[in-house]
Amino acid sequence: MPVITTIDDLKRMHKRRAPKMFYDYTESGSWTEQTFRENTSDFEQIRLRQRVAVDMSDRSTKAQMIGQDVAMPVALAPVGLTGMQCADGEIKAAKAAEKFGVPFTLSTMSICSIEDVAEHTKNPFWFQLYVMQDEEFVDNIIARAKNAGCSALVLTLDLQILGQRHKDLKNGLTAPPKLTITTMINLATKWQWGLGMLQTKRRSFGNIVGHAKGVGDTSSLSSWTAEQFDLRLDWDKIAKLKEKWGGKLILKGILDPEDARKAVEIGADAIIVSNHGGRQLDGALSAIRMLPKIVQAVGNQIEIHMDSGIRSGQDVLKALALGAKGVYIGRAYIYGLGAMGEKGVSTALDVIHKELDVTMALCGRQHVQDLDRDVLLVPENFEGNWA
Ligand code: GLV
Repeated sequence: MPVITTIDDLKRMHKRRAPKMFYDYTESGSWTEQTFRENTSDFEQIRLRQRVAVDMSDRSTKAQMIGQDVAMPVALAPVGLTGMQCADGEIKAAKAAEKFGVPFTLSTMSICSIEDVAEHTKNPFWFQLYVMQDEEFVDNIIARAKNAGCSALVLTLDLQILGQRHKDLKNGLTAPPKLTITTMINLATKWQWGLGMLQTKRRSFGNIVGHAKGVGDTSSLSSWTAEQFDLRLDWDKIAKLKEKWGGKLILKGILDPEDARKAVEIGADAIIVSNHGGRQLDGALSAIRMLPKIVQAVGNQIEIHMDSGIRSGQDVLKALALGAKGVYIGRAYIYGLGAMGEKGVSTALDVIHKELDVTMALCGRQHVQDLDRDVLLVPENFEGNWA
């Protein structure tokens, strides 16, 4: 067994073990992938201030996100098709998150259903909602999330239409995979994945299949989104969904201060500064570059989270220091899951925690709550003069 010390180690194993179409789905941005690339390269531009002779004995990464205690302010992001990276993937990731003490967010487009995850975990998880045209389906899935005891609804606002990811089209991405010659040749080399899949019954979109009526091809994310997602989603509808849900509401996909103000107006509990991991509007600025402006606009009125580009504990620290109260990892834990199942997700969380803890100490801080811009060296024109 190789010694795993970084998220990149897990990524290499994920690539070897998972079918190409699912690894590619993870490792894609839309169109030219500029935003996808800049989400990570912009983190690299920010450097850290080394401080010395500070007592490091009493360190803690414990914090709160939307009033819930977390072992570190890092949640697992909602990721579609997670149960295709490895059999029962969402259940495994949720278990690893629960053991670590961080929130797990289940995607609407998951393979394991809300009920499957609830049955295999003790602590409440968060549920991410895509708003569909079929109101009955939406009412029903909100009720299912409530029944399962989900403690927050994460409403995604940046995917009413799917940004085109070329690899998914070229690979013919479906869940379960359609057995073309190319796919079969590739699957033949992925025996561990295949054995797992043979032993589970969860191989299609668990929240959708059997719950949505009169729909076409439920195996394809692109045709499902094109047919079903609500193009008319607007702030009035968001306010109504907030009423329906009645619990903690997190709005995901805010990248502009004006939208952040609207989120404050409707009374959301938190926003996630995000460009969907560079998978939606290619050409948008990176989330870490937009974060300071949004913090400046609404940071004292709403809790701000961020995702898109976090691959290390140092990235977590940078986002927290720029004003996020919490961050989400998507790809970073999916690599772990594709590499080694539940153990891989736990390893990803351990790697990130260790990097965060040690970096924090070497920057002269003991508690994540004490992180501020003072621990960073940010290039003068980092946010840029974009008009
Ligand atoms: C959403 O489900 C995505 O593929 O980004």
